Amino acid sequence: MDKIVIHGGQRLKGEVLISGAKNAALPLLFATLLAPGRHRLANVPQLRDIDTVAELLTTLGATVERADGLFTVGADAIMSIEAPYELVRTMRASVLVLGPLLARHGEARVSLPGGCAIGARPINLHLKGFEAMGAKIVLDHGYVEARAKRLHGARIYFDLPTVGGTENLMMAATLAKGTTILENAACEPEIVDLANALNAMGARISCAGSDTVTIEGVEDLRPLDYAVMPDRIEAGTFMVAAAITRGDVKVTGAVASDLEALIAKLRDAGAEIVEESGGLRVKGPRRIESVNIKTHPHPGFPTDMQAQFMALMTLGQGTSVISENVFENRFMHVCELQRMGADISIEGHSATVKGVKGLTGAPVMATDLRASASLILAGLAADNTTEVARIYHLDRGYERIETKLKQLGADIERVRA
Ligand code: EPZ
Repeated sequence: MDKIVIHGGQRLKGEVLISGAKNAALPLLFATLLAPGRHRLANVPQLRDIDTVAELLTTLGATVERADGLFTVGADAIMSIEAPYELVRTMRASVLVLGPLLARHGEARVSLPGGCAIGARPINLHLKGFEAMGAKIVLDHGYVEARAKRLHGARIYFDLPTVGGTENLMMAATLAKGTTILENAACEPEIVDLANALNAMGARISCAGSDTVTIEGVEDLRPLDYAVMPDRIEAGTFMVAAAITRGDVKVTGAVASDLEALIAKLRDAGAEIVEESGGLRVKGPRRIESVNIKTHPHPGFPTDMQAQFMALMTLGQGTSVISENVFENRFMHVCELQRMGADISIEGHSATVKGVKGLTGAPVMATDLRASASLILAGLAADNTTEVARIYHLDRGYERIETKLKQLGADIERVRA
């Protein structure tokens, strides 16, 4: 298995171009199942999770052609309605085929995704929504079997703002009979991107990005022709990389309005952030101030940036309290950061991070996607050498991260083990 080797201490300088957003590209690719014809999706990042989506679409009978970041999907003849366990267990977002398959084909058989490193991640709210729209749901041998002659509109209240649940039900509602209202919906920018793409296909979605989304069902949709939004979490990760190395980096593709909470907290930590044509320029502080963060659904501080921000806080001048309110087990990076000399203690959903003078390089192990990013960031600032193993986690969500960091001056290599 590959590992990444970093010799820390380099200050990052220059410009980095952010790739398309993983968490927008995944639902957008599944949206192609809603309509026959040839769909085009541009700016798709080259990631392991995207490879899994391509494999799943092909398994279902779609044709997939890829040329760099341009995907062309032919969804005329969907021969299967089953998303098998071996694919779903490698990428939980596969459950997003439920909405499109139910809406267009009236049935779907999808493996329950099961838990993952960061939490149990049930899909009960997705299923409750489909039942409200008239689907019959049976759980059988680890699979969800869903059937509906034709979905009908419904008023659906989410007990908590689920990103995937909002996306799944929004896609299903585009072809339902009547109007669907999603209440307490998630407001993430990726949901707005999906709604914009679906409306371009002929859907009638309003107020996506707010907590109440209305979808008027239509009879059919035309093929997708769209470009994926930039990845705000990748952008945020590079912004933290600039801050933790006292660097000066232009993050091209970063959209300030998608990252308000992170920008506010990085400024509190002493970073200088200015909007510059097409992106954000970040200058890292000489002294990193310790700030507290609480993760919350958008527009709160993004849970997907918690591990990366914690790496920065390990070098703060004081004490930072970080509370993770979205997932139940998203502190897997803590023990690895402690091995690099970080002073962190965990109490339930809160981690108390006492800043230390410096981190020391060490061999560490990635456990999940954003934890791996956190270890890379810590390695950039640590002395000596840091080796991050099991970076297949990293490759799920970051396109060529070591190449991009090296172009900014980092002393970093991917070593094929
Ligand atoms: C999406 O996951 C993202 N993944 C995650 O990014 C992100 O962390 C998460 O949203 C929150 O922003 C993709 O978009 C592919 P949720 P999702 O449904 O949709 C509970 C990354 O690092 N819940 O909003 O699975 C759930 O257990 C990944 O890129 C239920 O209880 O997240 C969690 O505690 C990690 N029942 C909370 O809601 C349900 O039916 C938020 O989950 C659904 C969710």
